[in-house]
Amino acid sequence: MKLSSYLQWKNLQHPVLTEYQTELWLRYTSCNNPDISGNKLLKLKYQLKQALQQKYPGLLTFGGAFSNHLVATAAAAAEHNLKSIGIVRGEEVDINNPTLTLCRSYGMQLIPVSRELYRSRHDQPWLEQLARQFPDYFQIPEGGTCKAAVQGVSELDMCNTPAGPASLLICAVGSGGTIAGLIHGAQNTPVLGIAVVKDPGLPDKIKQFLPADHSWPEWQLVQALHQPRYGHFDHQLWQFCLAFTDQAVQLEPIYTGKALYTVFELIKSGVIPAGSRLSFFHTGGLQAIKGLAYRGLLPGSEPA
Ligand SMILES: Cc1ncc(COP(=O)(O)O)c(C=O)c1O
Repeated sequence: MKLSSYLQWKNLQHPVLTEYQTELWLRYTSCNNPDISGNKLLKLKYQLKQALQQKYPGLLTFGGAFSNHLVATAAAAAEHNLKSIGIVRGEEVDINNPTLTLCRSYGMQLIPVSRELYRSRHDQPWLEQLARQFPDYFQIPEGGTCKAAVQGVSELDMCNTPAGPASLLICAVGSGGTIAGLIHGAQNTPVLGIAVVKDPGLPDKIKQFLPADHSWPEWQLVQALHQPRYGHFDHQLWQFCLAFTDQAVQLEPIYTGKALYTVFELIKSGVIPAGSRLSFFHTGGLQAIKGLAYRGLLPGSEPA
């Protein structure tokens, strides 16, 4: 593999954590290419390996107009001299937005499709049609989520913080692949997922990666407490994200910021018991901040 990652822990400081005698350790995975941060390299690792072993000249995947996954796939493909295609939700997308501009800078060919057609992104007939149309391209599902992605994430040690064993592992949840990976790797530590999308089918999507013939650690999904609709946030949440920049911690309000905000609310309400040692996966996604600024959605300033 041309891509390499390194792992880090960061002990976050905040008055709420002090008041409730709670430790919060951010788990970082960084890559030599910063456009493949957080959960992305882990989710792509085995899919890239498969594509390379099977000698596919390209990767094809799916995403929205501001998708972190599209950028990561475009970057990973370029690092391996592979071609890439991004099937983008919505015929009306602005291919000059910062996310899609970055994808194109990596050579990704963008194919905007109607929202109606995009809804078939998991359906076999359309996937087969795309395979016939683009036989050179290894298909990666939306968000990268599949069994191979779960395996990649499962290899991340979230349990053993520098201060000792964590009492709870936490991550933001979109398509469910990341939390499924954490559950696989959790040994006996409980796992908490903060759902940043409103998707009643999410628990089942996660369970499909947790075969019933194995006893899994305890896990739970809670809806993000700020604004449950995907992508929605306000000034207060953005200010919460900015509050950590003096500790060199950057958060965006769609995934990590919203999930961490929810964690603080759960600490204050006693749902997360005082005295806990939390291990929170910083899943990356910072490129999205440029897209939010581009759309004028960030009240005030950007993080330094
Ligand atoms: C920054 C960020 N955090 C968390 C997630 C959620 O991961 P998953 O879709 O595997 O639930 C995503 C989506 O991949 C993401 O881009």
